[in-house]
Amino acid sequence: MSTSGSSSLSETCSLDSAYRRLYHYQGRDFQDYSIERLIYPVPVDEDEADRLNRQHAVFKKIFDNRLIFPPVEDPKKILECGYGSCAWAIEAAEKYPEAEIIGIDISPHLKPEETPGNLWCQFDDLNESFNFKSGEFDFVHSRLVAPGINKSRWPGYVRDCFKVLKSGGWLQMVEIYFNAQSDNGTLTEEHGLRRWSKTYLELFEAEKDLRAPTRMQSLMEAAGFTEVQSRMMPLPLNGWSRDERDREIGNLNKSNAKDLINAMALWPFTNTEGGAGMSPEQFYVLIARARNEIDDLSLRPYFPLYVVIGKKP
Ligand SMILES: C[S@@+](CC[C@H](N)C(=O)[O-])C[C@H]1O[C@@H](n2cnc3c(N)ncnc32)[C@H](O)[C@@H]1O
Repeated sequence: MSTSGSSSLSETCSLDSAYRRLYHYQGRDFQDYSIERLIYPVPVDEDEADRLNRQHAVFKKIFDNRLIFPPVEDPKKILECGYGSCAWAIEAAEKYPEAEIIGIDISPHLKPEETPGNLWCQFDDLNESFNFKSGEFDFVHSRLVAPGINKSRWPGYVRDCFKVLKSGGWLQMVEIYFNAQSDNGTLTEEHGLRRWSKTYLELFEAEKDLRAPTRMQSLMEAAGFTEVQSRMMPLPLNGWSRDERDREIGNLNKSNAKDLINAMALWPFTNTEGGAGMSPEQFYVLIARARNEIDDLSLRPYFPLYVVIGKKP
């Protein structure tokens, strides 16, 4: 971890600058460290911070403004895995002013300069074993980090979350399965959105487990969690639903969805070393098609969203 440990000051500074170094690619800023190690190859610029804040607003609407779903009373210490723009962490810090919120992220770039005094953000890789003490936290929150978790790390990641929780503490995981679909049969393999999903899921097959969201319940049970509850709900990509609340969610999510398919795929789809090797022109044609489809209510497109909670006995 960059802010602790027994390393000398110069080692800490060089690690610090390695984490901060940017890689400019196709008009976006990426974290060089993350790209080199294929940790989380998604931009870390202002546009991405803005997208994450809009995405957080979508989740607030979906979850009726609730930050924590299980019955966690008066938490003293909360771990936020992959804090991103700190949208969730800042609200948690404000809602629980007596709690210490510790955030971990591989990238420090998306974090705002000013954060509440009870929020401590560190940089570290969630693929490494946690170096927190056992039983330190009342609650662990992990949202939308799946594309950054190595395939073989998943069982250890969930076990580490278990280890750092106090007895009676809860883990809450929220992940999108990036497999665009529609229940009315109109979204075919010829559509840009399906091509996006297929390419995205296949590209990371060797390194990441992008189907892990569908297995979080069994991973949590295997790690020893009890009272595990799992729910899958459609995350609408536009306002196709006849249900007023879902239509509002879809309308709110539309701009995020359009920016998400660009941000998540730009580097993996276009780089020629291990990526799909599309030319920028081919990439932007695909993104433009998929974005048009996000405007099309008749396709009723959605990503499955998985929410799983479990308690450490
Ligand atoms: C899509 S953002 C989600 C941010 C926040 N959890 C939210 O829901 O708003 C994913 C974040 O997880 C971080 N991340 C992904 N893989 C990671 C890893 N292996 N170690 C640490 N952070 C990681 C990314 O840097 C990014 O900030």
